[in-house]
Order: sequence, then structure tokens, then C-alpha cells
Amino acid sequence: MSWHSRYLQQATWTRELRSYVFEKAGLTGTKRVLEVGCGTGAILSSLESPAGLYGLDIDGSALHEAQVHASKALMTRGDALQLPYPSFCFDIVYCHLLLLWVSDPLAALVEMKRVTRAGGYVLALAEPDYTLRVDAPAELAAIGRMQTESLRRRGADVGLGGRLADLFYRAGIHIVEAGAFRDRDAASLTPDEHEKEWAVLESDVVGLMPDDEIRRFKTLDEQARLRGERVLRVPTYFAWGQVSRGDLG
Ligand SMILES: C[S@@+](CC[C@H](N)C(=O)[O-])C[C@H]1O[C@@H](n2cnc3c(N)ncnc32)[C@H](O)[C@@H]1O
Repeated sequence: MSWHSRYLQQATWTRELRSYVFEKAGLTGTKRVLEVGCGTGAILSSLESPAGLYGLDIDGSALHEAQVHASKALMTRGDALQLPYPSFCFDIVYCHLLLLWVSDPLAALVEMKRVTRAGGYVLALAEPDYTLRVDAPAELAAIGRMQTESLRRRGADVGLGGRLADLFYRAGIHIVEAGAFRDRDAASLTPDEHEKEWAVLESDVVGLMPDDEIRRFKTLDEQARLRGERVLRVPTYFAWGQVSRGDLG
């Protein structure tokens, strides 16, 4: 599966919350909006706003794809820890599934705040906490732990989501709302979504457990779904807040 199709799939899980937050933050009335860590443009391409759209990512090949999918946005290659923009120049600066991959998420939030104008908003729209992952039936917890371990080895801060509100507080961004997403019902995934989940899972755990063991878990998973007993819960958090005049300078 391509990264873009995975990002599009993840974007569907957060669509409802995103449109609520973007509306509250006044997306349609803004001039400039930036996504930090925009990947292939899955979120940017879904924005309906007359605002100038900007995307930044550290990965040049993802940015090339983003330019195709979100052709109206101006893409820049750069690091979330050192945003290549002047201070106070965006109305809304957001990220989606970024902070867990950044070596210093607090510094990234401080940078996002720096480039946001007074009265503008900083949004972290989805950050998971894999340390609180729940799998059922219990036998499937082993493959869940492997997947979390694989993310950790690839550099993810697997418990970032649970610390998101505290990071906003420490960055001096005045929280408007923070919370967790409603759980998705793993038992009700379509066969296509189930295949996509497994394509990702298999590529994550390959090399960490024997292939026949992975196939055994897949069969167990399918059977549990058919019985309506499968639970796969990764608590995922959001926070958004306002940059006030007193914070600037
Ligand atoms: C899981 S993807 C999410 C992409 C997009 N936000 C979405 O939800 O579809 C995380 C993205 O963050 C980017 N990234 C990781 N560390 C970064 C950094 N320090 N600065 C900028 N981008 C970064 C990666 O290259 C990747 O494209």
C-alpha cells in the first residue's frame, strides 16, 4: 500500500473532529494556513478555504506527491524544529500525526506558535498513545506489542498522545479544547479496511516475528472480527489553542 493511501485512510478517522476544529478556528475567514509535517498532502488536499495554503515536510519525496495532491498549496522542504517562515505570519498552523515523529515535540510546538499571529490558532489534530493500546481477544495483544515496538525502533515517541495537552501548556499555547477521539469499532471494519490495516501491520512487524506466526495472528484476527469480538483501540488525542498577544515578542 502506498503511503498516500495510508494517510488518506487515517485522514478519514479524524475527519469529523478536524472539520469541527477548523470551523471553530475560523478556517474559511483566514488568509494563511500552514500544515507542518504535511506528508503527501492528505489533509491539505481536503481543506476548503480561500486561504493561502502552505505545507512543510522534511521528506522531499513526500512533498513532491503533496504538490500533486494539494496543487494549490505552496510546499517547502524544512524541519518542524526550525520553521523557515517569519514570526506571526499564519492565522492557523496545524499538524496531524506529526509530533510523535519529532525528536523535540515541545520545540516543534514553540516553533508553530512563533509563526502564528496573535489571536491565531495552533492545532495538533491527532497524536496517538500506543502505550495504552488495547487488543482483544487477549492472544492478539502480542502482535499489538510488536507493532508498538516497531514504531519505537523507527523513532516514534509511542506515548506522545497522552502528553499532548501538557506540551501545549508548556509551549504557552492557551488551550481552547483538548481531548481524545471516540474509539473506532475494529469489528466493523470493511474487508478493504481490514486488508489495509494488515498490510501496514505486516510491514511493521516483518523481521520481528516469523512469517507463519504473522499469518496465524491474521487468521485469529479475521475470526475474531467475524464473531464481533475484535477490539483494537489506540487512544488518540487532539489539542488546539490560541496564541495571545502577550505571548509574542
Ligand atoms: C505520519 S506522517 C503524517 C503526514 C500528514 N500530516 C498526514 O496526516 O497525512 C508524518 C510526516 O511528518 C514528517 N516529519 C517527521 N519529522 C519531521 C520534522 N522534523 N519536520 C518536518 N516534517 C517531519 C514525515 O516526513 C512525514 O511526512
